[in-house]
Amino acid sequence: MNNPRDLALKRLIRLLQDAHAGELAAFHAYDGHFKSVRDPKERQEIKKIRDEEWEHRECLARFLGEIGAAPRPAREFKMKCVGLTIGFLCRIGGWLIPMYGAGKLESGNIVEYEIAARLAFTAGRHEWISPLLHMAEVEWDHEIYFRQKFLSHPLGRYLPMWPLPPPRTEIRAKGPQALS
Ligand SMILES: [Fe+2]
Ligand SMILES: [Fe+2]
Repeated sequence: MNNPRDLALKRLIRLLQDAHAGELAAFHAYDGHFKSVRDPKERQEIKKIRDEEWEHRECLARFLGEIGAAPRPAREFKMKCVGLTIGFLCRIGGWLIPMYGAGKLESGNIVEYEIAARLAFTAGRHEWISPLLHMAEVEWDHEIYFRQKFLSHPLGRYLPMWPLPPPRTEIRAKGPQALS
């Protein structure tokens, strides 16, 4: 397992496992988050984001199965606890802090799926590139949602923010081979 293709596959499996567990944390965090907000429209919007994280998880589980790999149980358990804790904290953390935390985490998710797409390219799993980039795009949508929410708060524009991601169109325009 020393050629670039095998090494990329090994890294990709690890990343898919991490992302699979991360999506579980996100699902539980947003489950608590949507229940913590009062505005009905906002509740629906965050619930939709929660459900999209679950779709990501299903897609990742399928990929792992296709290469004969599986989620890592210890990681799954840990991230479930993280998600449930964040979800609980949303109920006592007010409105602004959960919006900030979600936006910051989502910006990292965009990059994670871009890296996964690049690894899929190198590993010869070309059929996964588009779905992985689609997940990066959905995470981009999540990031902008929470960014706008954060900025809509009277304090939002005075507080430090996480870096602005590149435009959404760049996710596909770059192409996985150019992501390195
Ligand atoms: Fe996700
Ligand atoms: Fe997300």
